[in-house]
Amino acid sequence: MSSSSEPATTVTAVAERPRGILQLDTLSKSFGGLTAVDIEHVEVPDSGVTALIGPNGAGKTTAFDLISGFVAPSTGNVTFAGQVVTHWSPERRARHGLVRTFQLTRVFDRLTVMENMLIGAMPSTHMRLTDSILRPAMTRRAVRQNRDKAMELLRSVRIDHMADALGRELSGGQKKLVEYSRALMCDPTLLLLDEPLAGVTPPVREEMVEHIRAFVDEGGVIVLVEHDLPRVMRVADHVVVLDRGRVLAQGRPDVVTSDERVLQAYLGSAHHE
Ligand SMILES: Nc1ncnc2c1ncn2[C@@H]1O[C@H](COP(=O)(O)OP(=O)(O)OP(=O)(O)O)[C@@H](O)[C@H]1O
Ligand SMILES: [Mg+2]
Repeated sequence: MSSSSEPATTVTAVAERPRGILQLDTLSKSFGGLTAVDIEHVEVPDSGVTALIGPNGAGKTTAFDLISGFVAPSTGNVTFAGQVVTHWSPERRARHGLVRTFQLTRVFDRLTVMENMLIGAMPSTHMRLTDSILRPAMTRRAVRQNRDKAMELLRSVRIDHMADALGRELSGGQKKLVEYSRALMCDPTLLLLDEPLAGVTPPVREEMVEHIRAFVDEGGVIVLVEHDLPRVMRVADHVVVLDRGRVLAQGRPDVVTSDERVLQAYLGSAHHE
């Protein structure tokens, strides 16, 4: 038992600051003389939607390439769920729940929508070739489960009727929906969406916003690159602004977007759609 005459303990318990699901530290990428990304520190909270915004060429897609492992950084580290993943392959990151979509969709034209979806399940499928020979029943079961899951996801974005259509038969908007659904095949905890609303019709945009909200309501985390600022403001809980590769501001959407430097950098530039 402690007595009141004892000196007070001098241990100052420094509460560990809650760490986000993703940290980027001194992360940079140069292409020849051009520094596309030069991030000192970014922390993505472990819930909700973080919007990554900035003018054309600001480095948003390159940042996604670095986070998802499609491009190796020139310097720095990516920490995901407490593990330094800087040198992990994209597949290994996906198996651990870090998945991205592409600004220019990567839906294979010569494969059916279902086949495109099954490709999305590959990182999380621990089947080996020998399994399909030695344990055909197990393989068939896994394939069936993945097909069921794919149909369910396609149904949720209302393109299940296109399951047997070839990728090339899809409109740009439908490709975005397949790309999004495919990313969900391996149950991501952190989903990076690169302009999911660009090139889709207004009703589909609204639906996509609903899907994004539903995903985070169920505990997932999204980093969203998007030029449609009014929608970004509606959907984002946290905003990071990039300008010429550097972080100009990060924080609450209302605070960040009223920052004069942000307005200058972002609204002073021509946007693309
Ligand atoms: N593979 C590459 N080789 C050379 N330069 C590149 C490469 N990839 C990107 N860049 C350059 O890096 C900069 C950042 O490009 P990035 O595509 O990341 O921007 P962004 O913010 O995604 O732009 P947008 O809003 O137009 O999609 C640009 O100047 C771009 O030209
Ligand atoms: Mg881009």
